Amino acid sequence: MEVFSIQVFFLFFLLSLYIYLQFLNAPKKTKNYGFKTYPLLGALPEFLMNRHQFLEWTTKVLANCPTNTAVFHRPGGVHGVITANPLNVEHMLKSNFENYPKGIRFISLLEDFLGNGIFNSDNELWKIQRKTASYEFNTKSLRNFVMENVTVEIRTRLLPILSKASETKRFLDLQDILERFAFDNVCKLAFNVDPGCLGGDGTAGAGFMRAFEDAATLSSGRFMYAFPLLWKVKKFLQVGTEQRLRESIVTVHEFADKIIRSRLEGKDSDDQDLLSRFIGNEHNSPEFLRDIIISFILAGRDTTSSALTWFFWILSSRPDVKEKILSEIETIRVQNGKRIGDPFSLEELRDMQYLHAAISETMRLYPPVPIDTKACLNDDVLPDGTVIKKDWFISYHTYAMGRMENIWGKDCCEYKPERWIENGMYRSENPFRFPVFHAGPRMCLGKDMAYIQMKSIAAAVIEKFEMEVVNKDTCPAHVLSLTLRMKGGLPVGVKEKVLARNRKMS
Ligand code: HEM
Repeated sequence: MEVFSIQVFFLFFLLSLYIYLQFLNAPKKTKNYGFKTYPLLGALPEFLMNRHQFLEWTTKVLANCPTNTAVFHRPGGVHGVITANPLNVEHMLKSNFENYPKGIRFISLLEDFLGNGIFNSDNELWKIQRKTASYEFNTKSLRNFVMENVTVEIRTRLLPILSKASETKRFLDLQDILERFAFDNVCKLAFNVDPGCLGGDGTAGAGFMRAFEDAATLSSGRFMYAFPLLWKVKKFLQVGTEQRLRESIVTVHEFADKIIRSRLEGKDSDDQDLLSRFIGNEHNSPEFLRDIIISFILAGRDTTSSALTWFFWILSSRPDVKEKILSEIETIRVQNGKRIGDPFSLEELRDMQYLHAAISETMRLYPPVPIDTKACLNDDVLPDGTVIKKDWFISYHTYAMGRMENIWGKDCCEYKPERWIENGMYRSENPFRFPVFHAGPRMCLGKDMAYIQMKSIAAAVIEKFEMEVVNKDTCPAHVLSLTLRMKGGLPVGVKEKVLARNRKMS
């Protein structure tokens, strides 16, 4: 009883002291920006209240901060900085790169699924993969391989599915179609396997895709726990989501291991995919090869489909932009003596400057990776004067950055592809102001490939079909996960055009 009383007294004393320091002794606050902070709970109540509109809410908070940067804390010693300031972004992603790794927390959450693959490693393990991959991603042979795969998938699967939907007047979920496309494509790139998720019979691949999706969603779900101990206990007991996660990981690993084993045994040795290029290094164990491949599939899986889904939604209410894209494609096609439906070459895709701008403008407002987080290794001061301490988190908020007046001007919330065009040519933006593909040493390796895929699909679809988006005037809700996916997909009606434009050929 006595011990209890001392404890209660001590707790009461600490609480009083805290409140005294917080309210009575603190200087009168004049600021009314940043996150609202509550005694003991920090910003937690606000985070919980706004969790359903997290991106929009944090964008407003950052827009009201003098340097577009806010600091927060939550119970359990969690401290973090969120920034939409290009100088801070450059500092964390490039100038002081070594101080802002992914960090142990991020890596341990995804480790069961991704192991030490490029997406989930720091330091030496990351460096060796990055070196091989950077070299390979720049080879002409890999670009041609990607080009060929994209062209075949469009011609033999995507266009026939859309034609069929037009014939039968059936509504489609465009997001689902684009995700299947991207999955088939990235599997070909990673280990030259066609899972046939879009239009193929998909028997072997569909299970792999489903398991991959579950593993990605359930692994990223671990980030959402207010108390991380909870998922660890579930993992230990093998119950609920952690049990499902383990099952899906087993399926993914078995599928990948089988392919890697057969390749190591020397079968199918003339493949041009990424796996063959990493097998070249005999120090890479079969498990490490698997980690590498899975990371690439994850990186290339949902991103292009997310960008294109938002792009087609925007186009549905912007006939002016669609007309300009059509006119550009038509000019290039006619110049090169092609018919509608003929695939475009790499050079022809490069000439589509306005289409490039329209897709980039989509990603400015709807970035496929809306927010990205790093850990802080040592105390530091950011260029805008914000103090950050060891073990804090720091996130750069790409979604908010696309909507900052300081970066894009008064019309920042308008969709205007023209802002990317200078003298008729696409003008690329400083990557620290537009970090959609990350920036600095860890910049996305698949950027060029992504544009090839997105432009090929957009050009092929826009010339041949009219898309009618259901509820086109309402901005679709999104799911908050690693990528910006639409909640409930994007239902569209498809109408194949009467191809009068082909007459322009002659
Ligand atoms: C519109 C499409 C894409 C966008 C917006 C995008 C964006 C990003 C972003 C933001 C990162 C940094 C993630 C982080 O470190 O936390 C990243 C990394 C990466 N991306 Fe992409 N990506 C796209 C498509 C692709 C494609 C098609 C591939 C090809 C497989 C790819 C391969 C990678 C790889 C390997 C990394 C890791 C780089 C490293 O850590 O060194 N990406 N991407």
